[in-house]
Amino acid sequence: MKVSLEGKSILITGASSGIGAATARACVNAGMKCTISARREDQLKTLATDLGELCTYIVGDVTEQGFNQHLLDEAGDVYALFANAGHGLDQKMLDYNPNQVKHLFELNLFSAIELASLAANQMAKIKSGHIIFCTSCLSKFTTPSHGAYSASKSALEAIAKSLRMEVKGDGIYVSTVHPIGTKTEFFDESAKRSGKKTSDFATQTPSWLMQSPDKVANAVVRCLQKPKTEVWTSITMRLISTAFGAFPRIAAAVISRVS
Ligand SMILES: NC(=O)c1ccc[n+]([C@@H]2O[C@H](COP(=O)([O-])OP(=O)(O)OC[C@H]3O[C@@H](n4cnc5c(N)ncnc54)[C@H](OP(=O)(O)O)[C@@H]3O)[C@@H](O)[C@H]2O)c1
Repeated sequence: MKVSLEGKSILITGASSGIGAATARACVNAGMKCTISARREDQLKTLATDLGELCTYIVGDVTEQGFNQHLLDEAGDVYALFANAGHGLDQKMLDYNPNQVKHLFELNLFSAIELASLAANQMAKIKSGHIIFCTSCLSKFTTPSHGAYSASKSALEAIAKSLRMEVKGDGIYVSTVHPIGTKTEFFDESAKRSGKKTSDFATQTPSWLMQSPDKVANAVVRCLQKPKTEVWTSITMRLISTAFGAFPRIAAAVISRVS
């Protein structure tokens, strides 16, 4: 069954750059009304102006108490939610910094859960909707320095799996997106947060595993049109991550060798 997106509305968090901004463009191109959100007003304003009347923006921090409710109140009855805001962190467990890890979970996990729960309640009333979480290929396995990041994305994936079963009878689809390395501000932001010049994410990701944010955005639109459980833009990485899950000792040996 193909869902017509013309005139339907979507709320996208983390839309001031990267995957979120590219997805807003792709959704508007598909005829959707788009509400975009993030903390940087100048970036949001430029994008919204560029996308025209189908796009409006709301500035704020999704980790701030009450902001997610405000977002949904302002966005109105949205058909879809793309919970995409997130950041990375390079941190070996021997250097564990509780404040940084807490903030990572506040953003990547707790704010996404809260927003999804609020949106699901709203969608259940009209028996229609689609919630998409941006996780990562690293929700399936991890690499050195990225245990906390992977944990936040694995936990988000688990929440999505549970939510999917809970809201099936309410006409709400739930999907997870699993990007591989994507050319966005993610790597610089992770380096900055980790007090480094170059993020370990960047050094550990081979160039053949890098993609454009548009590739993810187009895959999200295809998922909105034809809902699926998991969205992958790399079949190779999907197969590798499945093999890593089945053979953890081999996975650790291979990952240690390349990272
Ligand atoms: N790039 C990759 O290789 C990759 C791979 C797998 C998964 N992902 C996931 O993809 C998602 C998008 O990342 P990206 O690659 O597009 O990186 P990005 O360009 O750095 O985008 C991150 C977005 O999150 C927003 N954000 C950060 N903190 C926020 C907060 N407290 N409140 C509201 N918005 C906040 C940022 O906007 P402001 O700074 O303006 O708030 C920005 O719009 C993330 O969940 C990331 O984990 C990325």
